[in-house]
Amino acid sequence: MKHLILVGACYLDTILTVPHFPEEDSKLRATAIQVRRGGNCPNTLEVLQQLLLKDLNSDVKVRPHLVSCLPDIGSAATQRILSSFGTDDEESIVDFSHCLYRQGHNEAASSYIIRSRETGSRTIVNYNGLPEMTVNEFASIVETLVTPQQQGEEYWWHFEGRIPETALQCIHHLRRTLPESKISVEVEKPNRDGLVELAAEADVVFYSRSWAESRGYAGPDACLKGEAALKASLVLCTWGEQGACARWLSSGDEECIHCPANPSGREITVVDTIGAGDTFIAGMLYGLICHIEDWTREAKLSFAVGLATRKVQRDGFAGLA
Ligand code: FRU
Repeated sequence: MKHLILVGACYLDTILTVPHFPEEDSKLRATAIQVRRGGNCPNTLEVLQQLLLKDLNSDVKVRPHLVSCLPDIGSAATQRILSSFGTDDEESIVDFSHCLYRQGHNEAASSYIIRSRETGSRTIVNYNGLPEMTVNEFASIVETLVTPQQQGEEYWWHFEGRIPETALQCIHHLRRTLPESKISVEVEKPNRDGLVELAAEADVVFYSRSWAESRGYAGPDACLKGEAALKASLVLCTWGEQGACARWLSSGDEECIHCPANPSGREITVVDTIGAGDTFIAGMLYGLICHIEDWTREAKLSFAVGLATRKVQRDGFAGLA
């Protein structure tokens, strides 16, 4: 059995669709409002779950887990979050037993998102009042997740990289206690201190366009070449409508592979870019964990880009597999 553990925050997203991005201190009427569960790791898991359910008969058995701080287990917010992963007739295959349910907290972390029809942009303002996970809490999770019977199983840990200092210590803990683990990190938020150090410790690094631009890179390949002083064997960078680049650093052949978002050139209608990067990560993790040998590097990258391209053409994450 392979275990894929995603460590990151969960949000309830309130999405306002507007004809164009508003001016500061103006009033603008939205054309739609929608509330749905969000958060980078939960979004990635929602997509991964679909891919894994489709593969139930495959030889590769993967158990996905979420490690996230959530409100009190009895709160309506947490019930809503957990039920957002199930489908009408099936329970979720995601293990939520290692989430940290914060007693006495009834409100989920919230994002308010302005989604502009004119440009397809999504502008996110969020608030998270839940106490953050500590390194000791993480260490106990590792202990309960990896029981003696489960020694010898494979573990892939993916960190959102929200609180880089904590994530870094968690990675050090894993390197000491489970040295065979694979570790990936997402480096998304521009100018957040500690993300360079975090990337330096991971096996796989996912860079966002906004991070790369904040470091002065003009494109994804420049980012992957510029940020290459790492232990990582693979680095990736997404670039919106231009697709993504990947660079495998372990093979001597370290050229960037580029995959365009829309190779056919046919016009696509952008409906919802919220979570496109999270969907790309789902597609890539799926390729890296479930199709190690039977998919080429190009196939893994183009699967992830294709999945993210399908995602932006629909609202939410349903029906992607
Ligand atoms: C999209 C998203 C939203 C969430 C926000 C958190 O990538 O995960 O669902 O509100 O980003 O930063």
